[in-house]
Amino acid sequence: MSAETPHPAERSTAAARPSTSARPSPPSRPRALITGAGAGLGRGYARSLAADAYDLVLFGRNETRLQDLARRLEAEFSIRAETIPADLSTAEGIGAVREVIETSRVDLLINNAGYGLRHGLLDSDPAELAQLDTVLTGAVRELSLAAAKEMRARGRGGIVNVSSLAALTTMGQYAASKSSTLVFTEALAGELRDTPVTVTAVLPGFIRTEFHSRLGVDRPGPGWIWLDVPQVVSASLTDARRGRIVSIPGWQYSIAARLARVLPRSLVRWGSEKFSFERKF
Ligand SMILES: NC(=O)c1ccc[n+]([C@@H]2O[C@H](COP(=O)([O-])OP(=O)(O)OC[C@H]3O[C@@H](n4cnc5c(N)ncnc54)[C@H](OP(=O)(O)O)[C@@H]3O)[C@@H](O)[C@H]2O)c1
Repeated sequence: MSAETPHPAERSTAAARPSTSARPSPPSRPRALITGAGAGLGRGYARSLAADAYDLVLFGRNETRLQDLARRLEAEFSIRAETIPADLSTAEGIGAVREVIETSRVDLLINNAGYGLRHGLLDSDPAELAQLDTVLTGAVRELSLAAAKEMRARGRGGIVNVSSLAALTTMGQYAASKSSTLVFTEALAGELRDTPVTVTAVLPGFIRTEFHSRLGVDRPGPGWIWLDVPQVVSASLTDARRGRIVSIPGWQYSIAARLARVLPRSLVRWGSEKFSFERKF
């Protein structure tokens, strides 16, 4: 993003708070599309951006949850929030999101949807691994490219791809897919360097969301390793507004990331094996 062009998020803070009767949304109000918006981090992004006077397009599988969130945010912040159900492990689901990106203005795309697998590579069905890879990296790639082309043509826009600190480890297919998203995002940022469009990979450590209960594991480790959703949302959006290509919320994970990059890879592999959920819980 160039210094002259304000990021959509920066522009929104300067915009007047819209009134409840302002429908359809005024052209000045920015619009964000969030995948996996019904829970956890995605829900946090939706709330933060609604508070910042963004109109929203919320994607997820659980339509009831999405609609409930949309109605609450509309009532609380006087924005417009659309909900569209889509399973991002399917071509149809990814296509539904891409269609919105290609047929309407999206100023900020947040590729957030994701989940983990409890079992290791050898104990997982290959189809299960492929499905995970589609959600964590295939969908992110397809949607980022569609958005980047539209945003480049319009001369503004931002993309936030939620990866994970696991991208720097060797913790199974999850790490492999998150690593792919990190490298893809860095490569895309390079290709967008001379445009006003920004793209940011977010590498959070442990966050208090539904992620671990869905995995069926207890939250591991001491309290200080856990980040709150608002902390991750705020840090990553600030980094995206500054045009940072990689965002690592939390001082503890900033140190961990530096270590992971300088430690011998054999030590990273050893640590990753020790931290396998399957063995520990
Ligand atoms: N929590 C952590 O410790 C942590 C750490 C690093 C990175 N992350 C990443 O942060 C992102 C958000 O996860 P979270 O922690 O917020 O977990 P969460 O509370 O479980 O929320 C995950 C969201 O992703 C959506 N999702 C999952 N599979 C999907 C699919 N096939 N199609 C469409 N949507 C799907 C879910 O939608 P439904 O509600 O419809 O199921 C849900 O809204 C993920 O990419 C995750 O890998 C999490």
